[in-house]
Amino acid sequence: MSRIALFKKAVHDHYQTNRRELPWRRTRDPYTILVSEVMLQQTQVARVIPKYRAWLDRFPDIAALAEAEPEDVLRAWQGLGYNRRAKALWELARIVTERHQGRLPSSAAELKVLPGVGGYTASAVRVFAADEPLVLIETNIRRACLHHFFPRQAEVPDQELAPILAQALLGEDPREWHYALMDYGAHLGLALKDRNPNRRAAGYRTQSRFKGSVREMRGEILRRLLAGSRSVKEFAGDDRGRAALEALAKEGMIRIAKGKISIISSST
Ligand code: ADE
Repeated sequence: MSRIALFKKAVHDHYQTNRRELPWRRTRDPYTILVSEVMLQQTQVARVIPKYRAWLDRFPDIAALAEAEPEDVLRAWQGLGYNRRAKALWELARIVTERHQGRLPSSAAELKVLPGVGGYTASAVRVFAADEPLVLIETNIRRACLHHFFPRQAEVPDQELAPILAQALLGEDPREWHYALMDYGAHLGLALKDRNPNRRAAGYRTQSRFKGSVREMRGEILRRLLAGSRSVKEFAGDDRGRAALEALAKEGMIRIAKGKISIISSST
């Protein structure tokens, strides 16, 4: 058997007995799939599941999200981390409402230019909502590919994985194939724990330490703002607090005037 055929067999064998039933795998709605993929960009599956459900109860479609206040959107994002993703989704909903008659555009190229949507996410929406045979490379898929095809090479760029994955995709149902690949890669992540193949990926980086970080402080500030805090003084007492405030203001998440902080609103 060729290396590709062996790889495909390993993926299929694993999927046959270990497929994950995940809520976003039951829908074809591009918006719903987009929400799941944006959440999954930087947050683990187990944490995403309840947030994903609550989000869709609150914002079941693009129109509901576009009409919401950023404050409510940020509240629904609480616990997922990297909250600029929430703001990007809200902005996306507004743009799609204004420029695309409330419907997500139907090509990866048009999706990719929307806020918070990169190449992977744009392609993922098209694969999972419309069965387009596009190659997806995210952390689990990268791991599976590196494990099988680059056991000894270091600094492997995604461009070297793409042609292999394109060949493996031939003859497969794009949607099921990518679920299978992701599940297999996630399994390898657990099985190879301290020998993570992704360390051989070019540009490999782990998430920075959370405890004591500006990122942690940003989350803390937003949490307190959502609970009613307004005073700059409360947060600007140290470098970390000031850095977090500055970052939030720079991203347009908050406004600061006369010592008072406000979360952005739809009218400003
Ligand atoms: N199923 C669909 N997209 C996924 C993702 N990004 N991670 C895990 N499972 C998924």
